Amino acid sequence: MAEKVTVPEIAKMKQRGAKITCLTAYDYSFARILDSAEVDILLVGDSLACVVQGYANTLAVTMDEMIYHTRAVVRGRKRALVVGDMPFLSYQVSSEEAVRNAGRFLQEGGAEAVKLEGGTAVRETIAKIVQAGIPVMGHVGLTPQSIHRLGGYKVQGKDKGQYDAILADALAVEEAGGFALVLEGMPMELAKEITKRLSIPTIGIGAGPHCDGQVLVIHDMLGLFDDFKPRFVKRYAELKDVIGGAVKSFVADVREERFPAEEHSFR
Ligand code: KIV
Repeated sequence: MAEKVTVPEIAKMKQRGAKITCLTAYDYSFARILDSAEVDILLVGDSLACVVQGYANTLAVTMDEMIYHTRAVVRGRKRALVVGDMPFLSYQVSSEEAVRNAGRFLQEGGAEAVKLEGGTAVRETIAKIVQAGIPVMGHVGLTPQSIHRLGGYKVQGKDKGQYDAILADALAVEEAGGFALVLEGMPMELAKEITKRLSIPTIGIGAGPHCDGQVLVIHDMLGLFDDFKPRFVKRYAELKDVIGGAVKSFVADVREERFPAEEHSFR
């Protein structure tokens, strides 16, 4: 097995120009597969609200549910860094609540770091969590927990005001002590500038090729979730079709009495 990925190692990867890979994982079986394929970071994303729980957005998933999934992922990985995504309202109300909830990801979930959305607005909160010894990954640009304020899943930073605000958010995350930063849904030129200006690694999703690493939602890249397909997703498999085909074969086999056969039965 390649060496265990740690928070300091993620920082070093930027320094030596090694691209960082990150995928979401929500359970033990997927965590094992992704870990064996040497994905550097497993993000237990609040996207599980959509792709696992079936909600229209990420707002409904709770701390307890996130911890439950984090534990399952941690049991399945050996090498990757596990990052728990702080759900809506787990860090926005007060810094004290934020530290406590971030701590739960490490203490109860077994994660090694947390992720939260925002920049200048959460600078103090990030600093307090980091002071408690908990590594924080930031997330700026299109921040899905602010879907209603943003008016939908729209690319952010196209006009000068937004561009400057996102740049300020990114700088605030670094200044507060964040160890890495997700850049979501923004023009690639903005992501390129942020990546150049920051010493911490950037991990892009819908932010072009100039980031220090890339993240995708596992259900999107494997073709398991097709309620919609964002432009930035590359499909590496069409598992929905593969699974659907396998299940149809099972149904036909049982109905036509081909399964179970002799070799599946006991005497
Ligand atoms: O919840 C999630 O999956 C995420 C990634 C899209 C970065 O935050």
